[in-house]
Amino acid sequence: MYLSLWLKSNFNFLSKMKKKLITIAIDGHSSCGKSTMAKSLAKRIGYAYIDTGAMYRAVTLYCLEHDMIKGDEVNKPRLRRHMPKIEITFQVNDEGKSETYLNGKNVEQEIRGMEVSNKVSLVSAIGFVRRAMVAQQQAMGEHKGIVMDGRDIGTVVFPNAELKVFITASAEVRAERRFKELQSKGDTTTTLAEVLENVLERDRIDTTRKESPLRQAEDALLLDNSNLTLEEQDEWLYNEYLKKVK
Ligand code: DC
Repeated sequence: MYLSLWLKSNFNFLSKMKKKLITIAIDGHSSCGKSTMAKSLAKRIGYAYIDTGAMYRAVTLYCLEHDMIKGDEVNKPRLRRHMPKIEITFQVNDEGKSETYLNGKNVEQEIRGMEVSNKVSLVSAIGFVRRAMVAQQQAMGEHKGIVMDGRDIGTVVFPNAELKVFITASAEVRAERRFKELQSKGDTTTTLAEVLENVLERDRIDTTRKESPLRQAEDALLLDNSNLTLEEQDEWLYNEYLKKVK
């Protein structure tokens, strides 16, 4: 009798714990610190973190490696045939950072380079690419306990996510941050005006494309982090998470 009561109460306790696992969708404009914030929350609450931009970048790298992009044209019929052969996975390295693998090869560095950055918006605008990525993302989040960042997470991938956040900051602030980052990496040639132009162009492409354009889900919380420190935005997000699980 005691044993069955003990089992019952522990079962209830465990199922309550289980209920508290939620899905967290973080969307927003490029270069507004989405990934930093999403990663930091995932680490703090012990959730998995998925950078969906890295998945589109990996497909783009595959296209480049297989000579499927000429100027602004992607060879779609070929890419479509190759889609089943493209496997993207994530592995946590020794420092606890998640890294992207394309067909078993670590491509974390390559997908962040300019060659991929310049072509990724062409590839991420293709419907069949998006459908394949969305299906993989949904499978990754099947058991909840996940923080996923991207452009369409709260609207398409997890429309039922318990916590949805849409992050933005003024184009000038984002350009300034990106400019400082480039300088810290030793880039002395790119000007602030060029970075601002790139930020505005990416916004234009992301928000006007036909397939899953970037938009704030109706039930997403809006955070403009133009005037927030990293610590302040982390605390804000953590508190929103607490409100959902308490
Ligand atoms: O977040 P990022 O800059 O690494 O994203 C790379 C590109 O992929 C960018 O052009 C937007 C696109 N993207 C998308 O269309 N949907 C997502 N869920 C994530 C990224």
